Amino acid sequence: MDDKNTKERMDRRIFLRSAAATGAGLAFSPIAFGQTDSGKKSDDINVALLGAGARGRVLVNGCLKITGVRFKAVCDIWETFNQKRISRILGKYGHEHHTYVDYKEMLDKEKDLDAVIIATPDFWHAKQTVDCLDAGLHVYCETAMSNTIEGARKMAMTAERTGKLLQIGHQRRSNPFYIHCFEHLIKETKLLGRITAINGQWNRWAHEPLGWPRHDPIDQATLEKYGYTSMEQFRNWRWYKGLGGGPIVDLGSHQIDIYNWFLQANPRSVIASGRMNVYDPQKHEWPDTVMVVYEYESAQGPTSAFYQIISGNRDGGYFEKFLGEQGIMVISEASFRNAIHPEFIKMDAENWFKCFKKGHLTISEKIMQQMENLTAANFAKLFYVDESMPLPFDFMPPVRIERPSLRIPVKLDKPYHQPHLENFLDAIRGKMKLNCPAEIGYETAVTVLKINEAVEAGRKLSFEPDEFVVYNPHKKRTEHITGTKLPNSVRNCRYHSLAQRRRGLQF
Ligand SMILES: NC(=O)c1ccc[n+]([C@@H]2O[C@H](COP(=O)([O-])OP(=O)(O)OC[C@H]3O[C@@H](n4cnc5c(N)ncnc54)[C@H](O)[C@@H]3O)[C@@H](O)[C@H]2O)c1
Repeated sequence: MDDKNTKERMDRRIFLRSAAATGAGLAFSPIAFGQTDSGKKSDDINVALLGAGARGRVLVNGCLKITGVRFKAVCDIWETFNQKRISRILGKYGHEHHTYVDYKEMLDKEKDLDAVIIATPDFWHAKQTVDCLDAGLHVYCETAMSNTIEGARKMAMTAERTGKLLQIGHQRRSNPFYIHCFEHLIKETKLLGRITAINGQWNRWAHEPLGWPRHDPIDQATLEKYGYTSMEQFRNWRWYKGLGGGPIVDLGSHQIDIYNWFLQANPRSVIASGRMNVYDPQKHEWPDTVMVVYEYESAQGPTSAFYQIISGNRDGGYFEKFLGEQGIMVISEASFRNAIHPEFIKMDAENWFKCFKKGHLTISEKIMQQMENLTAANFAKLFYVDESMPLPFDFMPPVRIERPSLRIPVKLDKPYHQPHLENFLDAIRGKMKLNCPAEIGYETAVTVLKINEAVEAGRKLSFEPDEFVVYNPHKKRTEHITGTKLPNSVRNCRYHSLAQRRRGLQF
């Protein structure tokens, strides 16, 4: 298999996927096509950014690479610094826009918006999302969905009531690399066999509290009006109870979401330890070191899933590792950590060989040449090494984004958050279904926010299946939430949750 063939296959897959989605979704497009304010084309989307901090900048950067996005407003309470900085960038790229300190004023005055991208601190997400949806706008809201279950529930309920789209910013859900791993390696070929354990982490160094330019603080009255006691707290909101959820929620949300996705299940219980091992407890309210064990009972059987956050050592960085009876898959947004290899005693060599030949797995050029004339039988022998020896090589999925690598033949050249924004915008245009709609975000919020409860309780906590259900499952759901009509067979079933309904899992 050469690079050209692999690329052609990928291009064709992407074309087929989007063509199918386009056909299915156009009739249910949530955007009113043909709007004609000055110069607006039918596919253009008028967007406001709410929260112009570190993440807001990354998202604007992504949007600037996407055709049809027109920034019309920027709202941020740090008028003289973050707001000004983003506004300048947008001006440079020709986006004529207004600036605001207060989002309600923005909603009152901007009558031409289609969507809002929210990247404010977690404790603002629920209120702002609800108000934006109520104002008739589609919303892309960053993770964590909310710092409270109640907040997350209100967001999902409001999306349901208003019929507007709400995408939660779990960007791995739209990452072609993650999609490939789930669709082809887990779901289609079941390459790993039964997944009995998961291991994941985000280890990193401690860093100094975030500061601010001393000549540019926000005045005290404004800080207090928006829920902050000081500049120090405003800048380091993640560490404060009531504002953020600490590093376990901030970072863990992304990766634990993948556990639920790949297992197609929510956990049954959680046990967790959280301590302040590194940071100054006077200035940090949430634990900096957290270790968690979830127990799942999915369709394939029991799985135990470990996850940790460490703040004093970055050993191994961040990844999710799926341990199956027939293979191991380590994946990460930091793509140089990715690797897939068989559990050679138990592997279904035929299946792995087929998967490799189909192009679902790839390998370095040098080893690829040795494999040209392989059969399934001698393919398995490649992996028969003594248990104490390192494996001779790893496989890789043939898809990746960002950071060129010699090991991966097909590279989608965009930052890893961009496909998730594209998915949101295409869902507004009626071309795609959302990859992380509110009810999936809600399930992840329930899964992750329970960790802090378990730390506090100091014992194992159970999840009731009902906890993950955000809507009344018997209620008929409006179709345009996803921009795509669901088939009758799916619509009329009784599902445990809507996220499950979308995945086709009957209760
Ligand atoms: N998906 C990801 O990988 C990812 C990565 C980083 C951050 N995030 C999320 O993005 C959000 C923002 O994080 P950040 O790192 O940019 O934080 P930040 O502190 O750098 O930026 C927050 C911005 O919001 C503004 N703000 C605060 N309260 C506001 C209000 N009431 N109205 C308007 N503006 C307000 C602040 O002035 C600041 O500019 C958080 O929810 C965070 O968890 C997600």
